Amino acid sequence: MSTEVNRIFFSFPSEILGTTLAVLPFGFIAWAYKAIRPPRPKICGSPDGPRITAPRIKLRDGRNLAYKEHGVPKDAAKNKIIYVHGFDACRHDAVAYKNLSPDVVKDLGIYIVSFDRPGYGESDPDPNLTAKSLALDIEELADKLGLGTKFYIAGFSLGGLAVWGCLKYIPERLAGAVLVAPPFNYWWPGFPRNLTNEVFYKQKLQDQWSLRVAHYTPWLTYWWNTQKWFPSSSLIAGSMDILSSHDLELLSNNKRSDRQSYVAQVRQQGLYGTVHSDLNVGFGNWEFTPLDLENPFPNNEGSVHLWQGVEDLLVPVETQRYIAEKLPWIHYHEIQDGGHLFPHANGMVDTIIKSLLLGK
Ligand SMILES: *[C@@H]1O[C@H](CO)[C@@H](O)[C@H](O)[C@H]1NC(C)=O
Ligand SMILES: *[C@@H]1O[C@H](CO)[C@@H](O)[C@H](O)[C@H]1NC(C)=O
Repeated sequence: MSTEVNRIFFSFPSEILGTTLAVLPFGFIAWAYKAIRPPRPKICGSPDGPRITAPRIKLRDGRNLAYKEHGVPKDAAKNKIIYVHGFDACRHDAVAYKNLSPDVVKDLGIYIVSFDRPGYGESDPDPNLTAKSLALDIEELADKLGLGTKFYIAGFSLGGLAVWGCLKYIPERLAGAVLVAPPFNYWWPGFPRNLTNEVFYKQKLQDQWSLRVAHYTPWLTYWWNTQKWFPSSSLIAGSMDILSSHDLELLSNNKRSDRQSYVAQVRQQGLYGTVHSDLNVGFGNWEFTPLDLENPFPNNEGSVHLWQGVEDLLVPVETQRYIAEKLPWIHYHEIQDGGHLFPHANGMVDTIIKSLLLGK
C-alpha cells in the first residue's frame, strides 16, 4: 500500500519535465523539482508515521479508514447516520453530533458514525480519490459496521461533495441525505455561464487563483499553497476574512475548546493527501454534476435536504438556489442571517437532523 501511495504521490508529468529539462539550467530544475514535488505522506502506523489510536476498517484496496461512533449504541439505534466532515477536519469534528441535544439523541434513537476522510487523521490517503471512491468507502464502512441495508448520510461543507457522490453512486443504500453548505465546483457543466462567472469573481483574487491551479494544474497545487511569493488559498491559510460577521460571533460564543486536543491529528500525515487533494478533487473535473441526479425517493420513502446560509462568504447561495430550482425534490432550507458556520448556532443541528429523520 505505501509504495503505491508513494508512486502516485511522486509521479510527475514526464512530458513537462522533459521540456523543462531541455531549456533550463540544472540547478534551477533541481530546485523546482523539489519545490513542486509533495513530500512523502507520513502514513499512520508506518515506522516514521503517527500512531494508530482509532478503530479502523480495511477497505477493498487495502486502505484503512478510521472512524468514531457517537450517540446510542448501534444495536439499539432507530436511526443510523454516517457523517462526513468538511475541509481541514477529522472524525472528531462531528458537528452533526456535537451540537445535538441529548434529548433528541435519546428520543429518536440516533447513532452517528463519523470517519476520517482519506488522508486526514488516521485514514490512509487515497491517491485515486474521487467522489465515486468516497461513496464506495462510505458504503463499505456501513457494511463493515453492519449498519443494515439503509442509512442516512450527512455532510458539512466540503463533506457535502461526498453526499452528492452517494446520491449518484449508492442511492439505493440511502434512507435520506442532508448537505449543509456544500461547495460549488465552478467547472460543473450545465450551470448558466453568467451565474458561474458572477460567483467565481466574487471570491478573493487569491482564492480564484488557488482554484484555477487546482483545476488546471493539480500537480502544482502543493507548490502553489506552500510558496511565499503570492498569497495562496485563504482556506488553507486559516484566514478569518472568509468568515461572515455571524460566523465570527458564533466562534467567539462557542470556543470549541476541545478542538485543541485533536487539531494536530487533522493534517498529521501531510498537506498533500488532505487539504491539497480536497482542492484538486473538489474542484477538478467531475464525472457528473448535481444537476444530473435523479430523485432517489420517488415514493417519498426518504428525503434529501440542502441547507445554506444567505451570508456565507465561502459558498455562494446563488448556485444552491439554482440547484434547488432544477431539482425540486430537494428540500431546500435557507438561513437568512447564516454564514458558513450556521450549524454551530444554538439548536440549529437539532432542527437539521430532525428534518432529515422526520422528512420535513
Ligand atoms: C490507483 O489507480 C491505479 C491506476 O488506475 C491503480 O493501478 C492503483 O492500484 C490504484 N491505487 C490504489 C491505492 O487504489
Ligand atoms: C443570466 O442570464 C439569464 C438569461 O439571460 C438571466 O435570466 C439571469 O438572470 C442571469 N443571471 C445572472 C446571475 O446574471
